[in-house]
Amino acid sequence: MLSREDNELLTQVGPGTPMGELWRRFWIPGLLSSELSGPDCPPIRFRLLGEDLVGFRDTNGNVGVVVENCPHRGASLFFGRNEESGLRCVYHGWKFDVTGSCVDMPNEPPESNFKHKVRVMAYPAMEWGDAIWVYMGPPALRPPLPEFEWCRVPASHRSVGKYFSDASYAQGMEGDVDSAHVSFLHRWLNPADNPTQETRNGLIQDDGAPRLFVRETDYGFMYGARRLLADGTYYWRVTQWLLPCFSLVPNPNFPRGGRVYVPVDDKHTVVFSYWYHPERPLRDDDPKIFLPLMHAGTFQPIMTRENDFMIDREAQRTKTFSGIPFDGVSQDLAIVQSMGHIVNRTRERLGTADVAIIAARRILLRLAKQLRDGMEPFAASHGDLYHVRALDVIDSEEAFVPLVERNNDVMMARV
Ligand code: FES
Ligand SMILES: [Fe+2]
Repeated sequence: MLSREDNELLTQVGPGTPMGELWRRFWIPGLLSSELSGPDCPPIRFRLLGEDLVGFRDTNGNVGVVVENCPHRGASLFFGRNEESGLRCVYHGWKFDVTGSCVDMPNEPPESNFKHKVRVMAYPAMEWGDAIWVYMGPPALRPPLPEFEWCRVPASHRSVGKYFSDASYAQGMEGDVDSAHVSFLHRWLNPADNPTQETRNGLIQDDGAPRLFVRETDYGFMYGARRLLADGTYYWRVTQWLLPCFSLVPNPNFPRGGRVYVPVDDKHTVVFSYWYHPERPLRDDDPKIFLPLMHAGTFQPIMTRENDFMIDREAQRTKTFSGIPFDGVSQDLAIVQSMGHIVNRTRERLGTADVAIIAARRILLRLAKQLRDGMEPFAASHGDLYHVRALDVIDSEEAFVPLVERNNDVMMARV
């Protein structure tokens, strides 16, 4: 349970809010690289942390991210002409480069130096792991990129996708650090029907009340879900949770991946899903990245509140626990949105299965408050901390700390 004040602190991400400022200390993915398909391609309008932005790729292939409204009189630069190394507002022709400098002002006399005094607010943008990352914080504190293994492997070794969720980022995030829901929301009534056997789904279903253990780290925390197996050993799934909102999901084999929930604004989220193999290119017979069914040419899922996420009551009786069709990611998305845009955390009843959710909130709230008091988040400026992996193992070890210490090597990224 959170106080109303802490629930607002957790979920409000606009400029000047404590959580919004914390998010602005980190590089965050905003677009897929493929959305800006080539030099001088059409600009993309998008929203991050409650700010309306336009992304474009200039003639030299460099990516720029600027605020949407032209500094002259506010026309949307989404309608701009992307030409000759800059984005030109179609209202009066002012033109801006990827750094935000005004490089042409054709409606002013040639002798005027007004253009040297005008800038459009531009945020640093970098391509990393097939995504376009944006840094929206103070320029002097611009950090290095986080050294995720999935970003460092060759492009052929990874797959990255995205989709929108019509709810606060915090709800999606909480679903990713909630190992217990896997035994229910994603259950197949007959485990043999489950097409993704390699996730050891059967073992997950064997014990619906895993013991959870949390260990804070410099980058966030890791948490272990321990399930007792019939032979007396344990099935351990150790998820990594990295600031501000990344998860690395355990899986016995590569390819493996995770997700990041990036706030579009307080009530909407863009979810990036990534999937990679550290040693070889992805193949057609590999399991596919988890994405919901979406309307063609968009990132909008077809299952929405308006159509009750297409719940199939017959399937709910006979096939799957939830009756929500298609796949686990659609089930996650549906249930997270079913709570409303911002769930009322003053009324929830958290149990022992919710310790990782409590940890994620506690860390985010603590860091946001510390930043408000002038203390910078350590992880933001230490991209090397992100060089870790999740763990999925069957082991006789009963205690969490010895388990992760013994597997320390396996939990470090190699690439
Ligand atoms: S509003 Fe953009 S140039 Fe005038
Ligand atoms: Fe899930």
